[in-house]
Amino acid sequence: MSDLSNKHIVLGLSGGIACYKAAELCRALVKAGATVQVVMTEAAAQFITPVTLQALSNRTVYVSQWDAREPNNMAHINLSREADAIVVAPASADFMAKLLHGRADDLLSLMCLARPIDRVPLILAPAMNREMWQHPATQRNMAQLTADGAYVLDVGQGEQACGETGDGRMLEPEEILEGLIAFFQPKVLAGQHVLVTAGPTYEAMDPVRGITNLSSGKMGFSIARAACEAGAEVILVAGPVHLPTPRGVLRVNVRSALEMQAAVAKHVGAASVFVATAAVADWRVADVAGQKIKKDDSGQLPQLNFVENPDILAGVAQSARAKSGALYCVGFAAESHDLLKHATAKRERKGVPLLVGNIGPATFGLDDNALLLVDAQGSQELPRASKLTLARQLVDEISRRLEKV
Ligand code: C5P
Repeated sequence: MSDLSNKHIVLGLSGGIACYKAAELCRALVKAGATVQVVMTEAAAQFITPVTLQALSNRTVYVSQWDAREPNNMAHINLSREADAIVVAPASADFMAKLLHGRADDLLSLMCLARPIDRVPLILAPAMNREMWQHPATQRNMAQLTADGAYVLDVGQGEQACGETGDGRMLEPEEILEGLIAFFQPKVLAGQHVLVTAGPTYEAMDPVRGITNLSSGKMGFSIARAACEAGAEVILVAGPVHLPTPRGVLRVNVRSALEMQAAVAKHVGAASVFVATAAVADWRVADVAGQKIKKDDSGQLPQLNFVENPDILAGVAQSARAKSGALYCVGFAAESHDLLKHATAKRERKGVPLLVGNIGPATFGLDDNALLLVDAQGSQELPRASKLTLARQLVDEISRRLEKV
């Protein structure tokens, strides 16, 4: 199932150069399974033609409040009643000022005002020059629009079409899509603080070489995203991987197991849930060479001595907060066989209430996975699906267990 299947989105465009990105957004929404009805202001139609958006949405576009195509001549009522959400992207400074005052002198603003406020959310993706963005009037308008029930996405930072650099660019279409998908997820972790470890660790041998493993970090990143979508504040302690940070997640990059342990120690005090998905190296090199270990012609091989790394999860699970129930710990186990047996034993050994087993070779680097949840009550399978789907299911399972703590 696509992330927005069964959702009908009314995509509103107000006037701004970011209208060119709205074409991509329209396409991305359709690809995510939504049906999209585009409504444009006349100013927006100066930047991009309705023809483009009609072709991308596969529906005729509405611009005028006097559009006689609707039998009752009330496009503002008909269009807003069908919507699961109205997304205005770009939302110009002028358009937001207009919404704030409840003005309704064109179809888009009229439709926003006429929407059933309790049933049809209004989501705004602002786009403007950095000075306009920073202006107290804009900031005041945004605060008031939020208080009036609109959901205002943040803005991007960087080069602007006007040649200046700063805050105010419209988010990229993919970011708006991610924000919208998150908006529709049930907020089962609202108020929770979730700390996640993800990815491999890298244990240096010398300044240029080291030991690592094949963990891609995808499961942990998906869990961080799913927890954030579910309304939690999320900190993601990530080993060396090149994955994009999920929107809204605070990422802390680390390299070695010791760095990961220090980052976890720094943030775990504020966490209510700890999910350890990282494939932490069991050992590190005892004496890391200060210079590159050189190959010489003597035939002598370098000797490496190892020391054991701390078990980060087991350490956290032993803490007073975890034992008192203030911190709920979830561990992972990557096994090659006898998953239930090994996962059950690992749950005991780590001292965690929930342990999630998966088959290592069937998950490393892949976009999908299958999970086995083991807790005091028994075990439960989450059948093969995308890692994001499984992460959302796991987040839901964690939230149910939190209710019982
Ligand atoms: O013992 P094993 O490595 O199989 O345990 C896996 C679980 O323990 C995972 O949740 C992993 O993130 C965590 N772990 C850890 N620190 C280690 C080793 C494993 O947090 N040094």
